[in-house]
Amino acid sequence: MKLFTPARIGPVTLRNRTIRSAAFEGMGRDNGPTEQLRDYHWAVADGGVGMTTLAYAGVCRSALSFDTQLWLRPAIIKPLREITDGIHARGAKASIQIGHCGNMTHIKTAGGIPVGASTGFNLYSPTIVRGLRPDELATIARDFGDAVRTARDAGFDCVEVHAGHGYLISQFLSPYTNRRHDCFGGSLSNRMRLLRMCMEEVMMAADNDMGVIVKTNMRDGFRGGMEIDECLKVACEIERLGAHAIVLSGGFVSKAPMYVMRGEMPIYSMTHYMKQLWLKYGVRLCGKMMIKTEPFRELYFLDDARRFRAELKLPLIYVGGVVGRETADQVMDEGFDFVQIGRALVHDTDFVRRMQEEPCHRSGCEHINYCIARMYSKDMVCHRNIDKSELTPGIHKEIERIRSSAHHG
Ligand SMILES: Cc1cc2nc3c(=O)[nH]c(=O)nc-3n(C[C@H](O)[C@H](O)[C@H](O)COP(=O)(O)O)c2cc1C
Repeated sequence: MKLFTPARIGPVTLRNRTIRSAAFEGMGRDNGPTEQLRDYHWAVADGGVGMTTLAYAGVCRSALSFDTQLWLRPAIIKPLREITDGIHARGAKASIQIGHCGNMTHIKTAGGIPVGASTGFNLYSPTIVRGLRPDELATIARDFGDAVRTARDAGFDCVEVHAGHGYLISQFLSPYTNRRHDCFGGSLSNRMRLLRMCMEEVMMAADNDMGVIVKTNMRDGFRGGMEIDECLKVACEIERLGAHAIVLSGGFVSKAPMYVMRGEMPIYSMTHYMKQLWLKYGVRLCGKMMIKTEPFRELYFLDDARRFRAELKLPLIYVGGVVGRETADQVMDEGFDFVQIGRALVHDTDFVRRMQEEPCHRSGCEHINYCIARMYSKDMVCHRNIDKSELTPGIHKEIERIRSSAHHG
């Protein structure tokens, strides 16, 4: 029963312990919200979650990787306010994931050459990436603080700082992407410097009326990335910096994307929606090699998450493979304070209500990951919820193949 009892994240009380995880909707336009984004989150709030999370919002122009992504700035406070008012009217709380995509962007979207921890090459653009100067890092940290203030003005109860998955903060944390020789590179303490700077600004801006959540990696998910021992130290530092809760995740979008979500990436469906021909056929050719399948299993992060539970005192949010009431209850029984749910709420916005009403409820999501494939060029929608005429024979065939394969769970 713990799942449906109220609980706090800092100063914010949620009606229950379920949170819609930060899963990029691809439903923005011109880096601002749309009615589609509003309606999706209102439906999730109607469906009984304790809190829903809009994802992910760039803290400044260089932070953006898509036009369909939010750029958290004063110009969009009014339409965001409409969204959060509606979420509150439905009894849920509202959170927004804030981050900086670092080296994973395009010149057009970011308004300049992509920036990152170190100079290098961005295969996805494709373009060179410029290593950030220390004075620019101080500005980015302040941008995180400003984003929190904007989120408050827009009516959000919590912010979720994205410090995992190979986004900018994680690009600094990981020795794979951080090859700096200054005080931001080398030792773990140096690699955590940007995280510390951002968190200091975030905590100051959140003051005593907003909840601060940090999403961080338990492992980067590839050889040469961060492993659990260093990630535990990062989590301890996040706790020391005053965060109110941590989301325990893993993976690295540019190197081990399916480690985050598990299963197979439907490459054909993903490339079907791509407009640039060189990208479409390039990814169709090399996609399988670049985006490695990681077998899906229920509660796939639980083994690692237990180690974090044992070391940390602050509220912990479990994410990864919660597929029904039984798995959610197990997470609660193991001492976690909240569960985040991604794909089950893409598939069915009423998933939480169904778990409450039917003790044996299981999501109908099959982890085929069509929603992810589609999100890169269109919006995040489950293949089961779209007009069947949109599923071309090629997409249909791929879905059937993945459905019948052994590794998708
Ligand atoms: C369509 C989609 C988009 C996602 N986008 C984000 C994102 O913007 N930020 C993030 O931290 N995680 C993102 N994720 C990861 C989810 O938040 C979550 O960690 C992951 O899907 C595991 O949870 P699940 O098994 O309940 O789906 C995304 C997942 C999906 C399916």
